[in-house]
Amino acid sequence: MSVQTRPQRLSVSQIKRRKGGDKLVCLTAYTAPVARLLDPEVDLLLVGDSLAMVVYGFDSTLPVTLDMMIAHGSAVVRATSHAAIVVDLPFGSYQASPEDAFRAAAQVMAETGCLAVKLEGGEEMAETVAFLTRRGVPVMGHVGLTPQSVNELGGYRSRGHDDKEWRKILADGLAITEAGAFSLVVEGVNEGLARELTERVAIPTIGIGASASCDGQILVTDDMLGVFAEFTPKFVKRYRTLGAEIAAAAREYADDVRRERFPAAEHTYAAPRRRPKTTAAT
Ligand code: KIV
Repeated sequence: MSVQTRPQRLSVSQIKRRKGGDKLVCLTAYTAPVARLLDPEVDLLLVGDSLAMVVYGFDSTLPVTLDMMIAHGSAVVRATSHAAIVVDLPFGSYQASPEDAFRAAAQVMAETGCLAVKLEGGEEMAETVAFLTRRGVPVMGHVGLTPQSVNELGGYRSRGHDDKEWRKILADGLAITEAGAFSLVVEGVNEGLARELTERVAIPTIGIGASASCDGQILVTDDMLGVFAEFTPKFVKRYRTLGAEIAAAAREYADDVRRERFPAAEHTYAAPRRRPKTTAAT
């Protein structure tokens, strides 16, 4: 019998029990090698549709397809054994009807092996969240700045600064919680609203640009690693500057190749002492 040396992935009920307790540590992951590195350090990895911008170079999350999410989701699940894995439902796969949402979520769960799906939206998505959760699909909600609505919202500005928006985002969070979501991403809202939401909902809030009041935090991994040097949103803490490291490595490699310093003897398969006999044809 083997001895269990690593903690199991967190379950939905364990995540719910972290409400008001130890902070939930979450990051995004899109590929197997990065997911493998992050896995032991975090509670939860989100295969976010931010991969549209981070991996594929689109300027919004809207062009992502279900097939893309499934390909990246299954790579992340295969590469990990500790973190709970949540996969984003892409734009257009769930908004039209609860039935559409169920079909998309069931396909994502069956083909990736993830724990749960995440979808964006508030009161208008509550019926869908209830439909999914009653049929065995754990749902993480996402309110506040919801990037799939960028055209409707008119950009990526932080939200909830006036009374009307504050009350709307609060109502959104309460509706999604009431509908059965097990956790709630709160993105791009001021500290007062994040605190009130966290106090009023019974499930863990996971903040991104939503202050330390939330029950957990998530960042886009490439942002916190500094792979994108061009722009760092106010809410991102950059822990490394890997973008500069990657560029420096490529520069050194190019220089080595041009000056014939690479490959060196240690990178070369030595020729046999005696050259094999070759026929005239070879
Ligand atoms: O797609 C994503 O990466 C997200 C996080 C920013 C929460 O939704």
